[in-house]
Amino acid sequence: MNAKAPQESRTIMTDLVLPSETNPLNNLFGGELLARMDRAAAISARRHSRRIVVTASVNHVAFNSAVPLGSVVTVEAKVSRAFRTSMEVFIDVWIEDRESGARTKANEAIYTFVAVDETGRPVAVPEVLPETDLEKERFAAALRRKQLSLLLAGKIKPQDATELKALFE
Ligand SMILES: CC(C)(COP(=O)(O)OP(=O)(O)OC[C@H]1O[C@@H](n2cnc3c(N)ncnc32)[C@H](O)[C@@H]1OP(=O)(O)O)[C@@H](O)C(=O)NCCC(=O)NCCS
Repeated sequence: MNAKAPQESRTIMTDLVLPSETNPLNNLFGGELLARMDRAAAISARRHSRRIVVTASVNHVAFNSAVPLGSVVTVEAKVSRAFRTSMEVFIDVWIEDRESGARTKANEAIYTFVAVDETGRPVAVPEVLPETDLEKERFAAALRRKQLSLLLAGKIKPQDATELKALFE
C-alpha cells in the first residue's frame, strides 16, 4: 500500500449557521458542529483509506470561540497520521468575516477513524507521509494522542502508554 500525503485526504466543507442550528445565545449548537466535523473527517478518512470508515473516538475538541447565527463556517479535515487500521484526523474550523472575507480560526478537533470491511472488521490502511511543518508536528504527536485515547477508553494499561510516560521522565 502506497503512503499518502495529508493533502490527498484534505476535505473542506463550507456551510451557513441557520436558526435551527443555534443555542439560546444564537450561537452554533456544539452538537451541530461536532456533526459537521464528523462528516468532514469521515470523508477525509475515506479518501485516505478508500474504505468504509467508522468514528472510533473523538480525542479532543476545543470550542474556543462562539460561532454566531448567519456565520459562514468552513470545516477542513486532513488525516494527520495512520496506524495499522486507525487514522487520526485533524479538523480546523474557520469563520469568515462578511465584509472583509478574512478567515478566523474558531475551533479545532481531533477524531480517530477505523477502516473496516463490509462485516465491520478493521482492515489495514496506507501510511501518512507528512509534508509541511504543521503536518510533521501533528504526525509526531499523534502516537501520544492515540495512547491517551486508548488509556482513557480502558483499552491499554498505563504502563503500555510509553509516549505518555516519556513526557514525565
Ligand atoms: C472502532 C471499532 C471498529 C474498533 O474495533 P475493535 O474491536 O476495538 O478493534 P481493534 O481493537 O482491532 O482496534 C482497531 C483500531 O482502532 C483503534 N482504536 C480502538 N478504540 C480506540 C480509541 N478509543 N481511541 C483510539 N483508537 C482506538 C485501535 O488502537 C486499533 O488501531 P490500529 O489498528 O491502527 O493500531 C469498533 O469499536 C466499532 O465498530 N465501533 C463502532 C463504530 C461506530 O459505529 N461509530 C459511529 C458511532 S455512532
